[in-house]
Amino acid sequence: MCGIIGYCGPLDAQKVLLDGLTQLEYRGYDSAGIALFDEKSRIHFIKKTGKVAALRQVCEETPILSHCGIGHTRWATHGGVTGENAHPHIVGRVTMIHNGIIENYQYLTEKYRLGERLHSQTDTEVAAAALNEIYDGEPFEAIRELLSQLEGSYAFCIMFEDRPGEIYAVRNVSPLVAAHMGSGAMIASDLTALLPYSKKYFVVPEEQIVKLTAYSVSLYTLDGKKEAPELLEASWNTDAAMKNGFEHFMLKEIHEQPEVLKKTLVPRLNKGLPDFSDEKLPDSLLKEVSSIRIIACGTAMHAGIVARSLIEPRLRIPVTVSIASEFRYEEPLIDEKTLTIVISQSGETIDTLAALRLAKERHSPVISIVNVKGSTIARESDYVIYTHGGPEIAVASTKAYTVQIAALYLLFCRMALVRRVYSEDHARRFTESLLACASAMETMIRQKDTINELVTHIVNCPDAFFIGRGMDYAFSLEGALKLKEISYIHAEAYAAGELKHGTIALITDHVPVIAIATQKPILAKTVSNIREIRARGAYVVLLMTEDETLEESLADVFVRIPKLDDKFTVFPIAVVLQLIAYYASVQKGLDVDQPRNLAKSVTVE
Ligand code: G6P
Repeated sequence: MCGIIGYCGPLDAQKVLLDGLTQLEYRGYDSAGIALFDEKSRIHFIKKTGKVAALRQVCEETPILSHCGIGHTRWATHGGVTGENAHPHIVGRVTMIHNGIIENYQYLTEKYRLGERLHSQTDTEVAAAALNEIYDGEPFEAIRELLSQLEGSYAFCIMFEDRPGEIYAVRNVSPLVAAHMGSGAMIASDLTALLPYSKKYFVVPEEQIVKLTAYSVSLYTLDGKKEAPELLEASWNTDAAMKNGFEHFMLKEIHEQPEVLKKTLVPRLNKGLPDFSDEKLPDSLLKEVSSIRIIACGTAMHAGIVARSLIEPRLRIPVTVSIASEFRYEEPLIDEKTLTIVISQSGETIDTLAALRLAKERHSPVISIVNVKGSTIARESDYVIYTHGGPEIAVASTKAYTVQIAALYLLFCRMALVRRVYSEDHARRFTESLLACASAMETMIRQKDTINELVTHIVNCPDAFFIGRGMDYAFSLEGALKLKEISYIHAEAYAAGELKHGTIALITDHVPVIAIATQKPILAKTVSNIREIRARGAYVVLLMTEDETLEESLADVFVRIPKLDDKFTVFPIAVVLQLIAYYASVQKGLDVDQPRNLAKSVTVE
């Protein structure tokens, strides 16, 4: 969702904010704005609909010399995409940017009789106006009073007209990280904006107030007590958040997969066996649970579905995968014998976080699989397995998916070992094969030109279908999501055997069908389903392992992945599906990294 940045220090604040907003743009990109104290301590603001580049252009035409300011990139939740609704919102002495949703904005509007005085349709302007009503020159007291009245989620950065050179920030749920470095003080929604300046940072604790000046970042409890922040050190470097010669972040991130797969696995292997002692994950927990609940959203949820197909038939315990936003309302059957596994790249997805909290309320032990160190989901889980994917900037998730699956596979292997489903030898063979998937992914990345070519047929079609059985169906779900989110081609995933119960009515001449057939025990059945759609004129792209031979007439294009055990085909298949989506988006001339209406991290319900 929205990206927030604030800076106080000797550098050119306008430049620091614009550069930071460019890094944060993947969080939201329908409008952007900045507000700065100038040399005479007056506040200037500029807001613009569209991308950060549009804001940058206006700012460069009218540069403002400043050493303190705040900036925002918006993903509209409350009110349309207009200049008035863009942040910052300035009301009286208060200038505010916000990420989140103020649920009781109507109550505040009435309480402070703001109706006539508001210029935008946003809940943020209501919060800014309420704060302005409360403010009498004492920032801490005013913020504390505002918070006591707010319902919802928020990360605010606030400047007060009569406090030049100071920024105040506070959050509830929505993320904020802050750092103090030689070149000033900085606060942002996420680490990518801080990385060029500092590797040391802290996660702003909820309901504590941060004050930034050029010389310090100080943290206070709501009753005004100064607290020492808990410093973390980022393992990511700035390069990781740059394109490094690739045309798009998505392509770069697809290429990074073999390397980050190893980074996620290797530190957790001890003599070839999975070892979660650094995570302090007790074997007794893995041994004793009687069922597993996997909860996530989007691509992370698809990683969970792959894990379910791996775990349930082998460990013989029930594994359910829930969409986080549904989980809360389905009266879930969980208790202390249910292991909850929460998956989230950002560690901030609000529905996933809410589901985690519910699972904990029901005494279910929670393991999270998270990419971002120190994120809320990571901190609130009982155990965290960090994926070492590095920053994922493209909105369409790629490397996060494969490292999530790798972490889940390793967790499965540890469970199989402690539950005596696998012997040590068996577990060693499993981890060896898992590591070898890195080179299978490389093989498919090398075939990117072939994939680019095959996409030429799909790119002008309004619809596409992805089919498979068993695990192949689980992969199809992610393939369809990838294609629709960045190419806007309507794409559906179907269990191959289910097609004839309705969807086959949509299969006519040249309709593209991406058929995945890597699961040997059900290969013959999948092939029958492919014949059925072939008979109706579909244009078939068939993804299969290189050791199988199937009749040439079965497909228009064959994409052969290296020979692998059924369990591991997900890794090379994921690369192929990602590249299909990527080239479809490129060939259509679309914005690959920032597809319309989407945001990387969804911090509103
Ligand atoms: C958004 C992103 C997806 C992501 C999903 C879950 O929809 O666009 O790429 O899979 O959120 O995000 P998380 O950070 O929890 O994995």
